[in-house]
Amino acid sequence: MKVLITGGAGFIGQRTGQLFLKQGHQVTVLDNLSPPAHDRPPALPAGMELVEGDIRKREDWVKALKDNEVVLHLADHHDYLPAFSKLFHVNAVGTAILFELLLEGKTSVRRVVLASSMAVYGEGKYRCGKDGDVYPQPRRVDALERGVWDPPCPICGGAVTPMVTDESVARPTSAYGLSKLAQEELVRLLGERHGIEWVILRYGAVQGRAQPFQNAYYGALRIFALRLYHHQPPLLLEDGNQLRDFVDVDDVARANLAALSDLPTGAYNVASGRAHTVMDLARTLLRAADSAMTPETPGRYRVGDARHAVPDVSRLKATGWDAQSGLEAMTREYWHWLHEQPNLDSYFEGAEYLMERTGTVRVAR
Ligand SMILES: NC(=O)c1ccc[n+]([C@@H]2O[C@H](COP(=O)([O-])OP(=O)(O)OC[C@H]3O[C@@H](n4cnc5c(N)ncnc54)[C@H](O)[C@@H]3O)[C@@H](O)[C@H]2O)c1
Repeated sequence: MKVLITGGAGFIGQRTGQLFLKQGHQVTVLDNLSPPAHDRPPALPAGMELVEGDIRKREDWVKALKDNEVVLHLADHHDYLPAFSKLFHVNAVGTAILFELLLEGKTSVRRVVLASSMAVYGEGKYRCGKDGDVYPQPRRVDALERGVWDPPCPICGGAVTPMVTDESVARPTSAYGLSKLAQEELVRLLGERHGIEWVILRYGAVQGRAQPFQNAYYGALRIFALRLYHHQPPLLLEDGNQLRDFVDVDDVARANLAALSDLPTGAYNVASGRAHTVMDLARTLLRAADSAMTPETPGRYRVGDARHAVPDVSRLKATGWDAQSGLEAMTREYWHWLHEQPNLDSYFEGAEYLMERTGTVRVAR
C-alpha cells in the first residue's frame, strides 16, 4: 500500500514508518522538520521518501499526496507554550486543506487516519457518590494555586473518583485539546459526508526509545531521564499522584498499522490499558538507573493539564490489537537508549526556564 505519513520525521512517525516499510508498504513523509521536534535535519530511515513541506500550504500537500492511498496524519503543533493561534493554524487549518484537496477528486486517497490525543477528554470521566457519572469542568486556577489538585463534582461540588474514560464524551480543557477536537470533527464530518474512510486514534502518553530530547516541554519519561542524567532528581508536577497511561511507541506504531486497512471507521483510544501514577513512572526510572535519589514534588503545575487521564482501551482491543510492552520495560529501554545519544548537555534547562518564564509551569503557594 502507498502511505503518506505527515509528521513522519517525528517521534511516532519514524517508528511507524519503519514498521510500515518492514510490512512492505511504500512510505512518503510530509514534514517541515520544524523546531522544537527538530534542531537539525533528522536521518530518516532508508526507504522513506521525504517531501519537506508544511501542512498549512496547499502546494506542499499536493506534492506529497501524489498517488498515495492512505494518509496517516500525525503532523501537528503541540507545545505547552501559549501559542494558541498556532495550534489552530497548524492543526485545524492543515486538516481542512487536506480535505479540500480530497474533495477536488484529484488524489487516490481512500482513507485518512488521524492522530489525536487523550487531551480531547479534558478531565475525563469521574464517579460521584451522589450524582453518578460526571465530567468535571476545567480545574480552576485559584484551586491549583492553593495546591488543590482534584476536580470537584460539577453538580454537587463534592469529592469524585476517576474512572476509565471511553470514547463517547470529548470535552477538552486546553487549547491543544480543542485544536485536536477541531481536527477530529473535520475528519469525522467531511469523511462521513464525502465517503472517505476515516479512523481517529487517541493516543495515551506515548513513551519509548527514540523520543528525541529537542522537545523537552512534555513527555514525563524524557524529562525525568534528562534530569537524572544530569544528576538531578525527577521533578514532578502537582503531587505526583496524577494517573496516566504510558504506552510504548512501538505499540502505537502497531495500532497505526492496523488503522491502515483493518480498523472500521471510528474513534479508538490507543494506550496500554494500565494506569500508573507519575510517581510510579519516576520511581521505575530511578530503579532502572539504580539511583538512590527520590522524586521531588515542590507544587509545580501546568494550567490546562488534566488531573488524571485513564483511557478505556476495550474498543481497540476488541479488534485484536493489544499492548505488548509495560512500564518497566519501556523505562529501562529508554534509560539505556539515552546513554547511547550524543550531546545531551542542557536541553532540559532551556525548556524548564522557558516554561516558567511564560507562566506555563507555575508553583502553588
Ligand atoms: N507523543 C505523545 O505522547 C502523543 C500523545 C498523544 C497524541 N500525540 C499525537 O501524535 C502525533 C505525533 O506526535 P509526536 O510525538 O511524534 O510528535 P513530534 O513532535 O515528534 O512529531 C511531529 C512532527 O510533525 C512535524 N510538523 C509540525 N508542524 C508541521 C507542519 N506545519 N507541517 C509539516 N510538519 C509539521 C514536526 O516537524 C515533527 O516531525 C501528533 O499529532 C500528536 O498530537 C502524541
